[in-house]
Amino acid sequence: MKTHRENGLHVAIIMDGNGRWATRQGLPRLAGHRAGLAAARRIVEHASDIGIACLTLYAFSADNWRRPAPEVASIFWLLRAFLRLETDRLRQRGARLQVIGRRDRLPQKVLTVIENSESATSAGRGLHLRVAIDYSSRDSITRAACASGHSLPLSADSLGALLSEMLTAESGDVDLLIRTGGEKRLSDFMLWESAYAELLFTDRMWPDFDESDLDAAVAEFHHRERRFGAVPESVLQNETCV
Ligand code: IPE
Ligand code: IPE
Ligand code: MG
Repeated sequence: MKTHRENGLHVAIIMDGNGRWATRQGLPRLAGHRAGLAAARRIVEHASDIGIACLTLYAFSADNWRRPAPEVASIFWLLRAFLRLETDRLRQRGARLQVIGRRDRLPQKVLTVIENSESATSAGRGLHLRVAIDYSSRDSITRAACASGHSLPLSADSLGALLSEMLTAESGDVDLLIRTGGEKRLSDFMLWESAYAELLFTDRMWPDFDESDLDAAVAEFHHRERRFGAVPESVLQNETCV
């Protein structure tokens, strides 16, 4: 199982709750997305400070196209602002930015900013920041299978090994998956990569999620016992008859 654990964790975050955060304060949903962008900037900076190796942020799902066009347009406007603002900071910190998800449906202006940010930070060897835009886990699995270049039929084991390689090669499996906003579902995010991820759901709305929440989530992760299907060594040692 590939993981960043030797040199830091792979943390993935479903940044949910922007709309409700705004509505509760009598503000338009756009204000929630704007506050969500500020939260993302704080969390990216903190993640690199605390040595997280890879951070994958769910920013816009393939199903989010179902939202009203003005909301979609403002989310993309904010995503462009995020990428533009973040690029220099990331480069200074030696971080590398990568956008995952489909690119063929993105507005040209967004594509241009993505390409600039990725090339400007490509030499970064510190935090690997992945931003999921127009992302669907099912879609990425299907595409990886089709792009594997191997003629079918392929044995299930070989296909599984290929998919693992293609989906987690650069990032490793997800160690800790956090969802803010109170919902307890994955909404088509990192389904393959999170096979053994520790899941953490918090009621905190994304704009309110701060550095101490990330610290607490990582601390909880370190208290969990990951077994990967095996019996832990500590139990085996105390066992008199197996
Ligand atoms: C997450 O917040 C941001 C995106 C999905 C783009 P939401 O906009 O889903 O906020 P809620 O869930 O409606 O509160
Ligand atoms: C998931 O949140 C997508 C992002 C956070 C980008 P949604 O708000 O779209 O998920 P559902 O609709 O509640 O499942
Ligand atoms: Mg939501």
